[in-house]
Amino acid sequence: MFVASTYSKKEVFSGLEPDLIIYHCNELVTMNTKYGAPRIGEEMLELAIINDGAIATKDDRIVFIGTTNDFISKYEFGKVPTKIDASNKLVTPGFIDPHTHIIFDGTRENELSMKLEGKTYLEILKAGGGILKTVRETRKASLEKLVENGKKILNRMMACGTTMVEAKSGYGLTTESEIKQLRAIQILNKQHPLDIIPTFLGAHAIPPEYENNPNEYIKLIISDMIPKIAEENLAEYCDVFCEEGIFTGKQTNKILKTAIRYGLKPQIHIDEIVDTNGALLASEIKAIQTGHLLKSNDEGLKAMAESGVIATLLPGTPFCLMLNDYAPARKMIDLGIAIALATDLNPNCWTESMQMIITLACYNMKLSPAEALTAATINSACALQRQDEVGSLEIGKKADLIVFDIPNHQFLPYHFGVNLVLKVIKNGKIVVDNEFLT
Ligand code: NIG
Ligand code: FE
Repeated sequence: MFVASTYSKKEVFSGLEPDLIIYHCNELVTMNTKYGAPRIGEEMLELAIINDGAIATKDDRIVFIGTTNDFISKYEFGKVPTKIDASNKLVTPGFIDPHTHIIFDGTRENELSMKLEGKTYLEILKAGGGILKTVRETRKASLEKLVENGKKILNRMMACGTTMVEAKSGYGLTTESEIKQLRAIQILNKQHPLDIIPTFLGAHAIPPEYENNPNEYIKLIISDMIPKIAEENLAEYCDVFCEEGIFTGKQTNKILKTAIRYGLKPQIHIDEIVDTNGALLASEIKAIQTGHLLKSNDEGLKAMAESGVIATLLPGTPFCLMLNDYAPARKMIDLGIAIALATDLNPNCWTESMQMIITLACYNMKLSPAEALTAATINSACALQRQDEVGSLEIGKKADLIVFDIPNHQFLPYHFGVNLVLKVIKNGKIVVDNEFLT
């Protein structure tokens, strides 16, 4: 479980001798604004950029942030063991990807031709493809295989600048295989530098064995899966795919109420294909975050703004479904809804790159580069309730950051389809180094 932040003890970290300094940053995006988190409305535009910035770290924490001159006047520059010259470069907080399905076996590249023939997501699922195909293959996979697959994905995510990621189960749909997926997440969280936040998504689809008796499956989730998962502390969140033909609002409510009783925090996939009044339900249940929201109605959106539920927008999904229909991000921002961005990485929508998601968010949902970057950092941290630890660059927070080989944040969506990351610093250590790019 998440323990209270050390960030409040800012003074403890300020003044410590740094072991790493990144200096002459052309743009150092700190996200340290006067606003609380998450940022809403026009607050999303304020990146609190320091030009010719410097950021220094000690162990896994940020101990200095300011201008390069400021640093040189306060510290003995020559004594810092590791120095990174970020002239002409952009430095930002590490990306936080708050909605993913990274634990699976088998792939679904064959579904592209079905989509090209005009088959819809739900038609592919009904024909035994989609989630159900991945379920068949994930059930057969060993724990070791799932860990191996997950590790590859996490390595790619890290190479693209992600430093914290949420990961869902949901391709097992039996108690045993859901637990197998969550154990894979637990192992990866210990082995891999990235921080991984586990979510139980047993209610991802009705498994074939329960096709004619979905309520029995819901009983299994409520009386067997949730208690066991909570007992073993295998998940922090519980999610449900609330959608026409998948789980109804009533079933979603029942599952999430049970999860809350067992200490899991609620999230929901809502209104992706059809408006099932998911936004209203998410507000009533006080979900921490909700995913998709392509079809949510205005009443529901207003309720979300009032109740502070974060809308995690997943523009990779409509892109892969060839829908040309994206979540109404501008309307949400106008209404005062806090929005975050995530990859939704899954075998239907397979990208590790938050850079790609930022591009899609700008070009297809009309976010500005500043809004998209806010949504992919501090607001994503809020979607996982980690804003006291990560999401902005401030003294005492975790030293999770990215050095990009571009001069400013407007380049992020502009120069697209390639990895612009030069270095990734995770917990104060250089974990990715693409120096050959320069
Ligand atoms: O968020 N919509 C439900 N779940 C995933 C897709 C899972 C899959 O297709 O394998 C999503 O898009
Ligand atoms: Fe999803």
